Amino acid sequence: MTTTADYSEKIPNNVDLHEDRRLKRALESWQPNFLRWWESMGPALPTEDVYLRTAVNVGREGWAHFGHVAMRDYRWGIFLAERDRDRQIGFGQHKGEPAWQKVPGEYRADLQRLIVIQGDTEPASVEQQRNLGASAPSLYDLRNLFQVNVEEGRHLWAMVYLLHAYFGREGREEAEELLHRNSGSEDAPRILGAFNEETPDWLSFFMFTYFTDRDGKYQLGTLKESAFDPLSRTCEFMLKEEAHHMMVGTTGVDRVVERTVQVMREHDTDDVVAHGAIPLDVIQKYLNFHYSVSLDLFGSETSTNVANYYTVGLKGRWMEGRRRDDHRLTDDSMMVDALVDGEIGETEVAALVGLNSDLRREYIADCESGVKRWNRILEEGGLSSRLMLPHIAFNRRVGAFSGIEATPLGERISTEEWERRKAQWLPTEVDKTYVRSLMQPVHERGKIAAWLAPPRQGINGKPFDYDYVHLP
Ligand SMILES: [Fe+2]
Ligand SMILES: [Fe+2]
Repeated sequence: MTTTADYSEKIPNNVDLHEDRRLKRALESWQPNFLRWWESMGPALPTEDVYLRTAVNVGREGWAHFGHVAMRDYRWGIFLAERDRDRQIGFGQHKGEPAWQKVPGEYRADLQRLIVIQGDTEPASVEQQRNLGASAPSLYDLRNLFQVNVEEGRHLWAMVYLLHAYFGREGREEAEELLHRNSGSEDAPRILGAFNEETPDWLSFFMFTYFTDRDGKYQLGTLKESAFDPLSRTCEFMLKEEAHHMMVGTTGVDRVVERTVQVMREHDTDDVVAHGAIPLDVIQKYLNFHYSVSLDLFGSETSTNVANYYTVGLKGRWMEGRRRDDHRLTDDSMMVDALVDGEIGETEVAALVGLNSDLRREYIADCESGVKRWNRILEEGGLSSRLMLPHIAFNRRVGAFSGIEATPLGERISTEEWERRKAQWLPTEVDKTYVRSLMQPVHERGKIAAWLAPPRQGINGKPFDYDYVHLP
């Protein structure tokens, strides 16, 4: 195992691909299909080149190289975090045994399913973001969009590598399917609901990278704990790339809020529409939507499948190593969200079956930190308005609250009342049309759209007015 990626190969990698001719050939025959998919479903805006980072190393320091690259020539590669030869399984019935370097036969189907589901989200987001380039608010933002896109493409490579290397013919077939399903498609949609929603504007993009990419971070965090070592090492490195996607979302919403605050103060009005900014209540509605659909991604409150994945070692908890318990959980219980006599409440279940709820709670706590940041911007701007995360029962389509309706404050309401009032809480056609009307491209170096504040920092020490993207 080498840390430095081999870029002399057709497929850059740090997994000694040249030593396995069959695997190398199989992946090289998938590569043109991937590139065809990228051409037809990837970024639609033509570019000459983009200032992108490319992974060259998986170590702590200096793993990325920055430079202007033509996007179709981006070197998508396969990078696993370095192997720890002494790594032991950290939880479940195999706790303390050496991590697996091969897939145990009895867990093959389940592991393959987990990898396919993760793999399916990666290209889905590229598809969802396909048309955003045409309305980018600045070259800096355009560059960030493309960075996210190429890395989601690389994450697809990461999962396809595992499928090819460890799951034989079925794995290769699944790798093909990952290119055939498409976000929002009628006949072959992506597996998870949130990945079939469109990302039609940049406010949605920032909310998506904040809330939905963050779901990805938590899912990867559980797979990083996996007893299947190649999956663990793949996810460990993906998480490093994912941090940039989080940054794009967090600072993106920061900058929208900041601009709205500026306009509100400058003109001493809540009516920022007249001045081309996004009203706080519209920001809140977008937040409500993206947060609630992202909560659905964590699945039902209880799941025997997930209990089983944990017990056998396929999928751990977020930060498993830091938990102070026996890491087996066979005798523990926990409270999970539930409808109790028709009311929003909690119920006690065996800890193992409640693991989806455990992960969702970690995620929610993390989401709170964003809201805190954005509220600090409001506070420092001297405004009394605040943003908030809606209640966990709000707008849910999966789990205990999927059959009921609730306000953002968690008050249960009838379907009729929901229909009557939902325009207060979720983006309406009017809101969406307004936000879309702001999405006029600013492709001029150093300029930025009026609805968004410039970033505090550029990329890799470059200034905001750097030529991040060259357009034809
Ligand atoms: Fe990803
Ligand atoms: Fe991501």
